[in-house]
Amino acid sequence: MADRQNKDVSNLTKNQAEKEAQRLRQQVEHHNHLYYVKNHPELSDAEYDRLKQRLADIEEAFPDLQTPDSPTRRVGAPPREEFGTIEHETLMLSLDAVTSEEDFRHFWQTCLNELDADKLTVVAEPKYDGLSVELVYANGTLQQAATRGDGRTGEDVTDNVRTINEIPLHLRPAKGESTPRHLVARGEVYMAKEEFQAFNQRREQAGAKTFANPRNAAAGSLRQLDSHITADRPLHVYVWQLAPGSTGRPDTHWECLQKLGRLGLRINPEARRMSDSDEAVEWFKDMVRRREELPYEIDGCVFKVDNLAAHKKLGARSASPRWAIAWKFASHRETTRIEAIKAQVGRTGALTPVASLRPVHIGGVEVTHVSLHNQDEIDRKDIRVGDHVVLERAGDVIPHVVEVVTSKRNGTEKTYHLPSRCPSCGGPVERSEGEAIARCMNTSCPARLRQSIQHFGAAKALDIDGLGEKLVEQLVDRGLVESPADLFELEKDDLTPLDRMADKSAENLLEAIERARENATLPRLIFALGIPHVGRAVAGKLARQFGSIEALAGAGEEELAEMPEVGTTMASAIAQWFANDRNRKLIDRLKDHGIDPRARKADDKLEGVTVVITGELDSMTRQETKDAVANQGGDTTSSVSGHTDYLVVGQDPGNKKVQDAKANDIQQIDENQFLDMLGRKGGQG
Ligand code: IVH
Repeated sequence: MADRQNKDVSNLTKNQAEKEAQRLRQQVEHHNHLYYVKNHPELSDAEYDRLKQRLADIEEAFPDLQTPDSPTRRVGAPPREEFGTIEHETLMLSLDAVTSEEDFRHFWQTCLNELDADKLTVVAEPKYDGLSVELVYANGTLQQAATRGDGRTGEDVTDNVRTINEIPLHLRPAKGESTPRHLVARGEVYMAKEEFQAFNQRREQAGAKTFANPRNAAAGSLRQLDSHITADRPLHVYVWQLAPGSTGRPDTHWECLQKLGRLGLRINPEARRMSDSDEAVEWFKDMVRRREELPYEIDGCVFKVDNLAAHKKLGARSASPRWAIAWKFASHRETTRIEAIKAQVGRTGALTPVASLRPVHIGGVEVTHVSLHNQDEIDRKDIRVGDHVVLERAGDVIPHVVEVVTSKRNGTEKTYHLPSRCPSCGGPVERSEGEAIARCMNTSCPARLRQSIQHFGAAKALDIDGLGEKLVEQLVDRGLVESPADLFELEKDDLTPLDRMADKSAENLLEAIERARENATLPRLIFALGIPHVGRAVAGKLARQFGSIEALAGAGEEELAEMPEVGTTMASAIAQWFANDRNRKLIDRLKDHGIDPRARKADDKLEGVTVVITGELDSMTRQETKDAVANQGGDTTSSVSGHTDYLVVGQDPGNKKVQDAKANDIQQIDENQFLDMLGRKGGQG
């Protein structure tokens, strides 16, 4: 076949060309299906490209052989002036939604009552957050594709849909399945989460407008007058209905889905058929837990009565059927108003604009403030005081502003600019060339001092238990602490006059400071100093490379920049930090207090490593385990995420953690392997 591929197409007679084009179309579609739908390619990319190129060459040489349903059209068709409209054969209904278990059970019971039945079978599916489309196949060939529109008529997006590789241009009946004369499949076009991130990043780099979420990106991509643009967008589809009027429609929704799958359309393997409402509730709860892991966004689950005859009996309201319900997740998004914007000063002097919000609950948490990051971000999103904004808080992620609801503006909104003087000390604020961050330049600014003291005692730094925000504020405001080194000179009498500081808490704090002094490792100390840009992982690398604070302080910018993890910006920040007299004094004073750790080989074994522990260990308590990991520069966290490196599995481990580790491909180790890792050979000793 390779020979034939290379043969010049101009040697072909029209007849030969037609036959070959037909064969090539079938081959390309077959391999397309194996690749995109089955996830099981049989050809290399190059072989597949050769087939497609040969077909394109023939179609170019013999223009009358071009067909609208050729796989070559997947790259796009000539642009349109405007979308045509397509009338749906049967209404494309929407879904009624519930948000509580009680309402879901009510739906279940109503179906039972209306059907006068004692058992109900439903199909549960994820509710994809995308854009619905209707695909019409005539004798197996994709004839037209339309958006939902108003449910009666939608926009004609046939050219665009043809560019989506997962959508077969011709149905591909599996063995024993025949091609239906007329088939209407409905489903959701979506963009996967990771592909959306990458796509947005590319747009940002190219200076193009970014999309607020995968749904908008999918909708924007499908509704392009030039389908070449759609062809370049990473779109996917899951079909969720075989519409009424299709030939040979089975009796149940479940069978319909299976049939759609056997015809080469993409159905979701998460779909489940069930006959028990408790099982349905459990399935929903499991989806809530697994939602973040799914590669695509869903905003709830859909439950559909399985038996299609029952659909007729149950009927529909004006816009939604009575035989289906969407059980929506508690929203990750809410709209609220920005009451004010204030600049907060961080330990490096960075001014962060923070918006105070009209309080709003998102996913069970009250949100009152949101960081707007920097001036560029405010300008890019055109955020003004008084604006209504859409906030999003996904999973454990810190809330952020997705977009401004400009339609809610009434003209009283005020633009915001970061101040040119520090709101804490009145010192000058500067923004260096090319930097997004504006900074207070006064090194003794009290706001900076408060933040740096707090950072110094943070869990990942010197870990001074009890050194909270309110306490630090009092220590700084009363002039008791002007440098982190002052912490080691505090006495009980300094502390007891402070608010909420009884004898016992003062003693506890002094003990915690003493423990921090004794346990300070080099990676922790370097991180605690708060050198701009130096995070926990880099601090570990610097500790290993230089072995002591003195050696690090003596390192030149060039030497630092040679480290692959450092680079020029960080190298200059480090060198500048150590060149500052105040900072040198701090190092000397810490040394006077006995804080001058050296990198011990064992110190940073776990540097940059994050460990989660589940179950009981024989040889250590939970706290001892955490300390052991921390002493070697590692971190322990309470739940498994993509950032976890190891799950240590003890006795009676938690199911969820083990499952999460499996789902995230995270290495699981037992107690002995863990002890080995800590360098405590032999396990038990
Ligand atoms: S069934 C009559 N199933 O949700 C049946 N819809 O809010 C109507 N959607 O317009 C739809 N995933 O765009 C169905 N598994 C799913 C779905 C789904 C997402 C969308 C669809 C629909 C909207 C209704």
